[in-house]
Amino acid sequence: MRETTNFVVADLFDGANYAKVRAPLETAETLPPWCYTSEEFYRAEVGAIFMREWNFLGRADRIPEAGDFFTVNFVGVPLIVVRGEDGAVRAFSNTCRHRGAKVAQGEGNCQWFECPYHGWIYGLDGSLKGAGGMRDTKNFDNADYGLVEVRLQAWGGFIFVNFDAGAPDLLEALGDMPTQLASYGCEDLVTTRRVEYDLECNWKLYIENAMEEYHLPYVHKTTLELLDMDHGIIETEGNWDAIREVHEGTRALLEEDADKGFPNIATLEGPAAEGTHYVVMYPSTMLGLTKDSVWWLELHPQGVNRSKLIVGSCFPKSTVARPDFDDKVKYYYKRWDKSIVEDNDISGLQHEGISSPFARPGRLSSLEPLVHHIGNWVLDRVVEPRG
Ligand code: FES
Ligand SMILES: [Fe+2]
Repeated sequence: MRETTNFVVADLFDGANYAKVRAPLETAETLPPWCYTSEEFYRAEVGAIFMREWNFLGRADRIPEAGDFFTVNFVGVPLIVVRGEDGAVRAFSNTCRHRGAKVAQGEGNCQWFECPYHGWIYGLDGSLKGAGGMRDTKNFDNADYGLVEVRLQAWGGFIFVNFDAGAPDLLEALGDMPTQLASYGCEDLVTTRRVEYDLECNWKLYIENAMEEYHLPYVHKTTLELLDMDHGIIETEGNWDAIREVHEGTRALLEEDADKGFPNIATLEGPAAEGTHYVVMYPSTMLGLTKDSVWWLELHPQGVNRSKLIVGSCFPKSTVARPDFDDKVKYYYKRWDKSIVEDNDISGLQHEGISSPFARPGRLSSLEPLVHHIGNWVLDRVVEPRG
């Protein structure tokens, strides 16, 4: 018998079980509940998605100086991300080449990394600089035992890692996203805050929530209820999808604080100047780009039923330099803090409900086209490409 907490299917990876997810939105069903609750399905996602795609790890301005580093465990892969003496940001497997201990912990600044187990020393470029006690070991050359480097590339000040040496470069994967979002000037943004949350839900539930507006008048009824929305998904090429909404003002403030905003990003042009883009960068990151600020929701799966959420806030340099920045930015943080906890709570309730043996696939509204896209994007990689 197959391991599913919902109803039992003979083969989780048989495309026939997903025919109704593959149907057009109007007739489609949601992903079956087991896609959110089965350990086996999750393990397949790690192999087919997270080990192959460009995974978002925040912004390079988290580590501005040489020697600044942070560590992270991404889908079971411990990593060090560090800025070198040459100014380049690199990622390394946080696994000592002696007997495998994690070399670095937490975050900070250092001139080198010293493994806490037997003291091997690694440079900021990952090279093995010292290995005391290895004098009598034959045919041992430090040059053969540097930390294993992981591909890291950046766009717009955002950094991404890829565990697959054969994957296309980041810019190829992002397709026309850098062009469509160019006028936000993401490379000139400053990250002013980063907040972490532990979520009791599967990663897909949260990213689906971030990319549909059906829930706004219910989950966010006292915070984000939107009137007269003019919105729709836009044409994209590459590993992203987006909703564009046309509106007055910013989407990063509560209605009650609408008069407390900063000036618009000076470089905005075209559709970006008229509203907000809500972007999913597959697999598991949402970017919100509004007229005066940018925020991101970065999901790190921690297993089938737990996720870490990182919420980042960015403003143009000129905004951060304003004398009233500290006074006013708290209204932005207030908006994010309220709405994000509302989404965290509903996603936990959804995960608990969907874990029932009586959970069944549901149907989708025309307000949920990207929920349909996300499900099909996952199936394309974990089960089989769409025919
Ligand atoms: S495991 Fe790192 S020095 Fe031994
Ligand atoms: Fe929400």
